[in-house]
Amino acid sequence: VGQTLHWYEEVGSTNDVAKGLAEEGALHGEVVVAERQTAGRGRRGRSWSSPARRNVYLSAVLRPDLPPARAPELTLLASVAVCQAVRQAGVAAAGIKWPNDVLASGRKLAGVLTEMAAEVERVQWVVIGIGVNVNAAAADFPEELRGVATSLLLERGAPVPRALFAAAVLTALEEWLDRHADEGFGPVRAAWREMSDTLGREVRIRGGAAELTGVAEDIDEAGALLVRTATGLERVVAGDVELLRP
Ligand code: BTN
Repeated sequence: VGQTLHWYEEVGSTNDVAKGLAEEGALHGEVVVAERQTAGRGRRGRSWSSPARRNVYLSAVLRPDLPPARAPELTLLASVAVCQAVRQAGVAAAGIKWPNDVLASGRKLAGVLTEMAAEVERVQWVVIGIGVNVNAAAADFPEELRGVATSLLLERGAPVPRALFAAAVLTALEEWLDRHADEGFGPVRAAWREMSDTLGREVRIRGGAAELTGVAEDIDEAGALLVRTATGLERVVAGDVELLRP
């Protein structure tokens, strides 16, 4: 992953560039990286703050041999790879909030945006977009993110070389993709559980099929979140998780 690197000073969104390349036949592992994004996108239609030369914005084109229903596994896999790289970079307390936010000190450090094209039986391509706040200082975040976002710099108190960090993310991503291809979702699921900030916590889920509150018990073999509510065990496949109380 990342042997072919498409580097840009500025793009709208690396995911959009990568999707265009995928449609034109880009190979598995081609990566788009940019110094800044003018229209960085987050999950659920949100924007992603993308100041120049502070952070890492990259998108990988993958061509996994998977049915479309198993594509969500790759999103959890990507968050495991990012969390591993973040921990290696010195933020040992980083954890994952379902499905794929990397948090530290209760604030968002990184996010993953997965998009795909599929035929009935098989995924054609998956684009995994990864944004990590690396050297952003508090003043680099827009006002409304100051209390909710953090960076490696803010967590460690020292800057991190962005190219080395991006390489660590891509290396971890490749290792986990190889493992996933050989052994399936089991090892990814185990690593995700170990890195989870969500399991065992009281959560509120919004924006999915229904709003609900309960205790996050586990992720199932497809990566869905299992929440114990007053009325039973709910299986959550989409939505925003709010962690209630520390
Ligand atoms: C989220 O947490 O909502 C997902 C954020 C994903 C941001 C990354 S930055 C690189 C790639 N390009 C985008 O436009 N988004 C992803």
